[in-house]
Amino acid sequence: MTALANVSVNAHPSWEREYNVERIRADFPILHQKVHGHPLVYLDNAATSQKPRQVIDAITRYYERDNANIHRGVHYLSEKATEDYENSRKTIQEFINAGDSREIIFVRSTTEAINLVAQTYVRQNLRPGDEVLITAMEHHSDIVPWQMICQEKQGKLQVAPINEDGELILEEFERLLTPRTKLVAVAHLSNALGTINPIKRIIEIAHAKNVPVLVDGAQAAPRLPVDVRNLDCDFYAFSGHKIYGPTGIGVLYGKLPILENMPPYQGGGDMISSVAFERTVYNKVPHKFEAGTPDISGPIGLRAALEYINKLGIENIEKHEHELLQYATEQVSVIPGVKLIGTAKQKAGVLSFVMEGVHPHDVGTILDQQGIAIRTGHHCAQPVMHRFGVPATARASFGLYNTKEEIDALVSGIKKVQEVFG
Ligand SMILES: Cc1ncc(COP(=O)(O)O)c(C=O)c1O
Repeated sequence: MTALANVSVNAHPSWEREYNVERIRADFPILHQKVHGHPLVYLDNAATSQKPRQVIDAITRYYERDNANIHRGVHYLSEKATEDYENSRKTIQEFINAGDSREIIFVRSTTEAINLVAQTYVRQNLRPGDEVLITAMEHHSDIVPWQMICQEKQGKLQVAPINEDGELILEEFERLLTPRTKLVAVAHLSNALGTINPIKRIIEIAHAKNVPVLVDGAQAAPRLPVDVRNLDCDFYAFSGHKIYGPTGIGVLYGKLPILENMPPYQGGGDMISSVAFERTVYNKVPHKFEAGTPDISGPIGLRAALEYINKLGIENIEKHEHELLQYATEQVSVIPGVKLIGTAKQKAGVLSFVMEGVHPHDVGTILDQQGIAIRTGHHCAQPVMHRFGVPATARASFGLYNTKEEIDALVSGIKKVQEVFG
């Protein structure tokens, strides 16, 4: 661990209250490098976020001191690894305010969490003619798994439209909820537009018609407070790598009675309590859904990430990113020839834009030459691109360590793009 990392978290309790971005940046080794001769400006946080030293150290410590397989051994290391793995489940439970740690299932990613629900809950409940309702702003991960299961079970995928600002049209959403709707799946925060959906209201509307709701929290969990009990959502999914934790680990929250009635996802070790050729008895929740040796270092790294966020305070992160987004919106929207895609009243984290006469890929390449990392393309949300009549956008997305100076760099970068294409 570097001296700076020690100082920033341990020696300054007041630091927890005063959001000091320079001190925070000291915890992220990757940020302190030059790219193409310029200081790195990392604005691709919606794709994946960087990891603080505390996360990197937790993973290294696990492999240096504690590595063993879990749930099976009586020896010291196995018990230690099991304890760490299960304690991580508790930290995640507390982070999203779930009522019970058994409601936390470890998966690979948001994508796997959604596929799990499609292949278990929806597979079990969808009859021919039944419907799954999503919105027009979903990521491909919250479209394709439903398409696949609907195709197989002769169900129908319904899509609630969005308006010109990229906001869900709630009346249309409500109209599309029918007695055939078996599940609603909706992003808490859109990765392509930055729209924050009125998720609590959406859940109330769906529940009034007895329809359960899955929330895709891939973008929301890293930047907005999430309280699954207050939301009353039935499922909530997010990815470790977008919330300053490792890749390869994700979380599916599900209400316990629902999880208990769901069939398992994959078969194998650990998800059983007994196996005979005649009959296998499945393990209890959550282990029923965690077949085989899981990613053990993943939850341990994710726990370190969530503890890091807890120290900063998710509300402080939300406020910091909101200020960045406001500042960036003010600066970028007045550049002639630049158009924002996604102008919802409630937004977070993401600034998507197109530039007259310049393909987004060229925007990304020229910015990269100045050390600025943004994303260009369809952002795994091709239907959103179709909705706005663009093939792609350039997207800057913010994280807890970004600064106003970095946004100034982005703005001069965009002006440079215009000079090049002048
Ligand atoms: C809104 C949203 N949902 C789902 C995903 C998929 O996440 P992952 O690739 O970690 O499974 C993403 C990733 O960008 C996303 O932004």
